[in-house]
Amino acid sequence: MAAPIELDRPLITPDEIEARVAELSGQINKDYARTGRAVSIVVVLKGAAFFAVDLMKHLDLPTKMDFLQAHSYSGIESTGEVTLIKDVSMPLAGTDVLIVEDIVDTGLTASWLLRHLSGHHPATCKLVTLLDKPSRRIYPVTIDYTGFSIPDEFVLGYGLDYEEGYRNLPAIYTARPVGE
Ligand code: IMP
Ligand code: MG
Repeated sequence: MAAPIELDRPLITPDEIEARVAELSGQINKDYARTGRAVSIVVVLKGAAFFAVDLMKHLDLPTKMDFLQAHSYSGIESTGEVTLIKDVSMPLAGTDVLIVEDIVDTGLTASWLLRHLSGHHPATCKLVTLLDKPSRRIYPVTIDYTGFSIPDEFVLGYGLDYEEGYRNLPAIYTARPVGE
């Protein structure tokens, strides 16, 4: 069973998330306005699902949507290994791919995904992440759009999980093991 954790006060409130998602989508609308192509939104399961849906509702661009799920092993003896659990099923060649992530931590997953999806020969391939923990970076990655930069703390809610739970919380909380 998962070790019990306790939540602190919200780090980012639902209102703050909503406002930032609107700003990010405004920027994306501007940047892709003149391509004349549909944007291929690639949602990284499971954590980015909430963010991706809210973001897409603000886009006034032609979009397509696909999902991908990856597992990363970035422990202390990190081999930098990422395993694909589910790959995209939509053709991406010649399209504008926008990868939607929940959080960039060490950068392992995001840098791997950018390489993997670039292999599909899209016209462009960009990354939007709701959260970034820059102080944790090991694998360099270019992030095109960032919702919030946060300190090195474990966070959950709004799609982010602890042992698969807590994704449904509307705010983002910091959490710690009980008693710490
Ligand atoms: P990476 O280290 O950048 O490859 O991050 C891998 C994955 O770890 C992210 O996509 C998240 O799913 C997960 N992750 C990293 N930090 C947190 C956190 O604070 N809360 C919940 N999940 C996290
Ligand atoms: Mg993730």
